[in-house]
Amino acid sequence: MPTETLIVQLAERSYPIHFSDVAERLKADVSNLRASGHSVRVISDAGVLKAQPEYLTQIGFEDGEILSLPSGEATKSIEFFSQALSHLASTASNRDCALFAFGGGVIGDLAGYVAASYLRGVDFYQIPSTLLSMVDSSVGGKTGINLPEGKNLVGAFWQPKAVYIDTALLQTLSPREFAAGMAEVIKYGMLADLELFNDLVALKGLNANSAELPAIVRGCCAIKAQIVADDEKETATSGGRALLNLGHSFAHAIENVAGYGQYLHGEAVAIGLVMATRLSAAIGQIPESDIMQVKELIKKFELPVRLNHVLKISDLMAAMQCDKKNRGGQLRFVTVTSLGTTVTTDDVDSNTIEELWRTVGAQ
Ligand SMILES: NC(=O)c1ccc[n+]([C@@H]2O[C@H](COP(=O)([O-])OP(=O)(O)OC[C@H]3O[C@@H](n4cnc5c(N)ncnc54)[C@H](O)[C@@H]3O)[C@@H](O)[C@H]2O)c1
Repeated sequence: MPTETLIVQLAERSYPIHFSDVAERLKADVSNLRASGHSVRVISDAGVLKAQPEYLTQIGFEDGEILSLPSGEATKSIEFFSQALSHLASTASNRDCALFAFGGGVIGDLAGYVAASYLRGVDFYQIPSTLLSMVDSSVGGKTGINLPEGKNLVGAFWQPKAVYIDTALLQTLSPREFAAGMAEVIKYGMLADLELFNDLVALKGLNANSAELPAIVRGCCAIKAQIVADDEKETATSGGRALLNLGHSFAHAIENVAGYGQYLHGEAVAIGLVMATRLSAAIGQIPESDIMQVKELIKKFELPVRLNHVLKISDLMAAMQCDKKNRGGQLRFVTVTSLGTTVTTDDVDSNTIEELWRTVGAQ
């Protein structure tokens, strides 16, 4: 069982990620915040509050301090951003307000952007409750909401003051949501950690009760923390934080064209990882045999390796043009140079990409 706290090294904005005795630590930290004159507020969603009805009260949060929003991607919108800001204003929250996100990536992204915006910025804390948010979205300070025109188009970098990772919360997460988080775990192995990749290959399976889970979550956070420390705002001309988007150019296009909610983010990422592996083989960076290895791993964790209904290649190609990673009108991909190592790749011709879409069932 990992016991340490990991520090995300960002000079004066450095912060801890706590992995052990999390509920007790939270209780003490919330109590200290109150004692030093801070008001505390929580943004959460109806799904996690129903599944974990005692969690926040046992920590010491009071009902009136908790804003419950509907579950689902649609909550990452201007409407709920506005509702959350009004909630803070109407509950007399001032500059000393400490805002906690309790939920998955949807709540973390929205609450983080609320924290970045309210009174030009209040302190923000993350209590991630899905596997995806524990290994990915709660760390790194990317916050934001969607517009009807596209995902994550409005937002800010706003680092949390601390992240509290309590893997016991995953006991109530549905198997489908757990699997979606595994896509990001596999991504970390592919992009930066061959040992993690091989460990995942060796596992029979993984669930909320697996003894291996805490160490895997911690390992993913360590990779993300290092990448974020090296390139916080994704400004590196090549490599850097953009590498975390392995498979995501494809995934975002799938989510966009299929309609948000058709695929969970992690499910789209799983298909994207297969495509990124095929692309890496097509440009001669890895052997063809790696494709089968990645596909088998993804299938083992109950994730899709193909589209579940036909999408149009022309729509998917158009959606890819909107990817935030593109530079100077050119599509930018993350490719694997050997399992566990990745680079950003700019010069891929569109015929190659169209062919890749065909391999996952697009027409
Ligand atoms: N900021 C970043 O760096 C970053 C990185 C990756 C993904 N994201 C974003 O994260 C979002 C996806 O996050 P997600 O996959 O966590 O989905 P989510 O936040 O929608 O949560 C999934 C579902 O699980 C339920 N839930 C949460 N915790 C639970 C628990 N412990 N028990 C039972 N049910 C629980 C929620 O109510 C919800 O219905 C996307 O919007 C994506 O863009 C952000």
